[in-house]
Amino acid sequence: MSRVERVQRELEKQNAEGLLVTKDVNRRYVSGFTGTAGAVLVTKSEAFFITDFRYAEQAKAEVKEANIIIHKGNLLKEIGLLVDKLALETILIEENGITFKSYLDLKEYTSASLLPSHSLIEKIREIKDSTEMEKMYKAAEIADETFAHIINFIKPGLTEIEVRNELELHMRKLGATSSSFNIIVASGERAALPHGIASHKVIENGDMITLDFGAVYEGYCSDITRTVSVGKPTEKFQEIYNIVLEALERGTKGICSQKPTKEIDRLARCYIDQHGYGENFGHSTGHGLGLEVHEPLRLSSESEEVLQKGMVVTVEPGIYIPGWGGCRIEDDILVTDNGYELLTKSSRELIIL
Ligand code: GLY
Ligand code: MN
Ligand code: MN
Repeated sequence: MSRVERVQRELEKQNAEGLLVTKDVNRRYVSGFTGTAGAVLVTKSEAFFITDFRYAEQAKAEVKEANIIIHKGNLLKEIGLLVDKLALETILIEENGITFKSYLDLKEYTSASLLPSHSLIEKIREIKDSTEMEKMYKAAEIADETFAHIINFIKPGLTEIEVRNELELHMRKLGATSSSFNIIVASGERAALPHGIASHKVIENGDMITLDFGAVYEGYCSDITRTVSVGKPTEKFQEIYNIVLEALERGTKGICSQKPTKEIDRLARCYIDQHGYGENFGHSTGHGLGLEVHEPLRLSSESEEVLQKGMVVTVEPGIYIPGWGGCRIEDDILVTDNGYELLTKSSRELIIL
């Protein structure tokens, strides 16, 4: 079933007349268009891709399942005219992919009622198809190869930013179009910052370093974390590392189709709690991964979702102690019928540089 057809099946189920797709990754998912402007209107029987002159040739090459409309003036005005021409009385719009200003403008340009899509496409995107998985395997492989490279590059005297630059460059050399997010290199006490993006701090002997990075490969993201030790680790670091590692193992081993996501969070979190560090693990255990590095699916105590075959999630427990440092280990994992498959395969054992 094509992606447009998948959306149309959802429209039927919800008894909705049409969906306007304006969020960039969703536009790409539905239409195949990799450019940066335009929108897709999917109705129960048709699909339209609307963009401007700059993207006419690209749209012709990439968009296979929608009628292409090249507009001259205002995009929203064009969409409004089309919606009215098709006599749609109601359309769903992407509450996460339209600004309030655009929403107000669109209301002026059409007589149709605008209703929230409630993440209709994000829900379809939760289950990856085989073409998506090929790209996700490659994005994960780039992350693994880059980790193997960086552990030979890091040495005392380099700044975190120099390490970040090397991570970024190496991922691009291996075929990534960019990093999947702002790279985290947090050394020494800075490892207590869960999102400590690389700074000018100089790496010293005895530092722990949390490296959290990922590649974008043909639109799809990887997201890996390893915490390494520069020189001999202290007993305390070794203890914390082992707790985080066991939490990761427990979370990972719990993954399989039909398992509630909150159960994976519980498996990892309980272990950290039991060792007295519950207060130091203040984020969720993982998240969905795909065209976005953080997809809406959450492995958290508040999540009501259930894992299904074909979902890709991260598991990433951590312990963060202000004034001391911290540790996080993260892998990307495909949910299968009977369990899981690791996409990132770098060793989880503590690496001493
Ligand atoms: N770098 C953010 C995360 O791992 O989710
Ligand atoms: Mn990460
Ligand atoms: Mn992550």
